[in-house]
Amino acid sequence: MSYSIYGNSQIQTLKTRISTLGEDLSFADGTVPDIDRCFNQQEKLTTSCEKHGQYQRLRIWMEYNGRVAEKFSRCPHCINDELEAAKNSLRTIQSNELIEKANIPERFTSCSFDNYEAVNSAAQRNLSVLKAYANNWEKMYNAGTSLILSGKPGTGKNHLAVALAKSIIEQHQASVLLTSVMRIIRAVRRTWDKGSERSEDDVIAMYTGVDLLVIDEVGIHYGSESEMIILFDIMNTRYERMLPTVIISNLAPAEISQMIGERLTDRMAEGDGATLVFDWGSYRSSKGAPSV
Ligand SMILES: Nc1ncnc2c1ncn2[C@@H]1O[C@H](COP(=O)(O)OP(=O)(O)OP(=O)(O)O)[C@@H](O)[C@H]1O
Ligand SMILES: [Mg+2]
Ligand SMILES: [Zn+2]
Repeated sequence: MSYSIYGNSQIQTLKTRISTLGEDLSFADGTVPDIDRCFNQQEKLTTSCEKHGQYQRLRIWMEYNGRVAEKFSRCPHCINDELEAAKNSLRTIQSNELIEKANIPERFTSCSFDNYEAVNSAAQRNLSVLKAYANNWEKMYNAGTSLILSGKPGTGKNHLAVALAKSIIEQHQASVLLTSVMRIIRAVRRTWDKGSERSEDDVIAMYTGVDLLVIDEVGIHYGSESEMIILFDIMNTRYERMLPTVIISNLAPAEISQMIGERLTDRMAEGDGATLVFDWGSYRSSKGAPSV
């Protein structure tokens, strides 16, 4: 479990607040909640909000032992403002949690679509495809659309994969996990240790449980045959559940097919999946940037 700086109680408080504000809004709209049905009389009064001016306020009341109990609705614009603010806070907190859980390597944390330079027309196209993928996430997710980022070192495949992950999390609060073939194999190996609390199935469940999985370094044979089979099992399970996967590789598309099997690469191309090729010189050397 990853460490959360907010804890779930804050999320729960905000969710409760959003639901209460929703009820306030429908009350302001004239719907009396079941719990208030004992208030057997109602009227509408014109009143004024300091911020938003005149509005129709609902008053419900009842007489009980000669006393009056009453309730008033609030200004609908005020409620809407509060609702918007609460939803924004919830989105921010959830996004921060998801970003933490996404396992974005430290040196890539500042990577975004905005600071990716379209160094040539292919880079521009790849950038546009990935931005469109993030913007249309719901459609991509529902169709299980996968992507392959294939090409030369230093062309920004990881940069763009991180930008994609961040954009999907921030816009859509989806769960994303960045990993690599090596990490997957290590996670599987650890389950074989005596006393390991996790089973192989737990590891597979971890990688098949996120909305979007990004797998780096596909094409490097790190493990034994049986370990590689687990990797394919993860990809296959995601495919069968129609969950999208992004594969990053230094291999050419044909070589990727050869390695993970045409069956899987063909499948990845389903649902408008695309192979994005990065076939130009390294940005690292072109910028004299430190080699990362
Ligand atoms: N077009 C670009 N605009 C801005 N920064 C870039 C661009 N291309 C690469 N970079 C930067 O160069 C560095 C290397 O990029 P990255 O690690 O994403 O390359 P890669 O394609 O994954 O390479 P490799 O195949 O070696 O893993 C990163 O710091 C990245 O932010
Ligand atoms: Mg890389
Ligand atoms: Zn108001």
